[in-house]
Amino acid sequence: MGALEVREGFIELYGAEPEGVWAAPGRVNLIGEHTDYNDGFVMPFALPHVTTAAVARRDDGVLRLHSADMPGGPVELRLDELAPESDRDWTAYPAGVVWALREAGHEITGADVHLTSTVPTGAGLSSSAALEVVVALALNDLYALGLKGWRLARLCQRAENVYVGAPTGIMDQTASACCEAGHALFLDTRDLSQRQIPFDLAAEGLCLLVVDTRVEHAHSGGEYGRRRAGCEKGAALLGVDALRDIPHDGLDAALAELAGEEEVARLVRHVVSENARAERVVSLLESGDIRAIGPILTEGHASLRDDFRVSCPELDLVVDTALASGALGARMTGGGFGGSAIVLTDSADVPTLTQAMEEAFTKAAHTPLRVFEAVPAAGARRLA
Ligand code: GLA
Repeated sequence: MGALEVREGFIELYGAEPEGVWAAPGRVNLIGEHTDYNDGFVMPFALPHVTTAAVARRDDGVLRLHSADMPGGPVELRLDELAPESDRDWTAYPAGVVWALREAGHEITGADVHLTSTVPTGAGLSSSAALEVVVALALNDLYALGLKGWRLARLCQRAENVYVGAPTGIMDQTASACCEAGHALFLDTRDLSQRQIPFDLAAEGLCLLVVDTRVEHAHSGGEYGRRRAGCEKGAALLGVDALRDIPHDGLDAALAELAGEEEVARLVRHVVSENARAERVVSLLESGDIRAIGPILTEGHASLRDDFRVSCPELDLVVDTALASGALGARMTGGGFGGSAIVLTDSADVPTLTQAMEEAFTKAAHTPLRVFEAVPAAGARRLA
């Protein structure tokens, strides 16, 4: 749905013109998984799928939220009553952003918001970050807050961690706020320094498929939090601030120090090796060798499956089938426990690969897959 339809939807709903229309994308992560809450490296890029918001300010301390994709009329909330973990449905994300902005001292006096989204939900493609970032960007513009993308991302993460109660890292919000078309974003999550890495698949005759297994994942559920706590325990046992501080050539020594802590050791091995993989991928991309990243993506999947243990049979089936049918590399992307995988392949092989994956899912009696080609798109922006 374009800016025009969202604007019209706003007028129909609230009986007045919005002051503007904004969009923020979902993302896939190329490499660097479960590293962001360990101060490590990630490399997401934005999808063409976006959440779009038409917004106008109010001055009476009221926030009205409506989504064209959800049943029912606008939800009306009082700004002075917003409180962490008070709200358990989708409105917690935009309400949490308003709460985080006000808590950081920004004077927000109210807003009417009308939203719609093309980002698949529950697919590990950051529909929540898109929803947070689009609202943050709209309020940043309308209230002339002058906050940079990375700062908006931090506030959105705080909304998600504290207000919604999901202990996620900073990758998804930064990807949605800061990505650029045609590029992957190499992000150091310790200081949020960024490098835009040109990622032109078509020029190399390549294609990156996103394969949504349709197995719904959830973050506030315990497994994500348990992995995070295990990583923090590992850092504490090793006497470092974060696992990022263990260099790859110090991994064996670190594992020896963790003798008797087998579960923590597996988490540490994943995070330390994944940071090294992210650095290898960035240097290959910078030297123009996209094909060569394939095996590193596949290695990353094995590490997430065997050491970090966040894959699931459906994700493994996508990866195994894609590789057996000639893909250059494949891995799960995002938090795991369902959601999506990415497959790097020669463009010419897309039809064969897609068919093979679909057949494998039919044979295993899984819900049919959703497959689309991902071209790195723009980050959050004002549309009108
Ligand atoms: C989810 C979280 C991110 C990140 C990934 C795993 O997408 O929101 O912060 O931790 O999982 O890399």
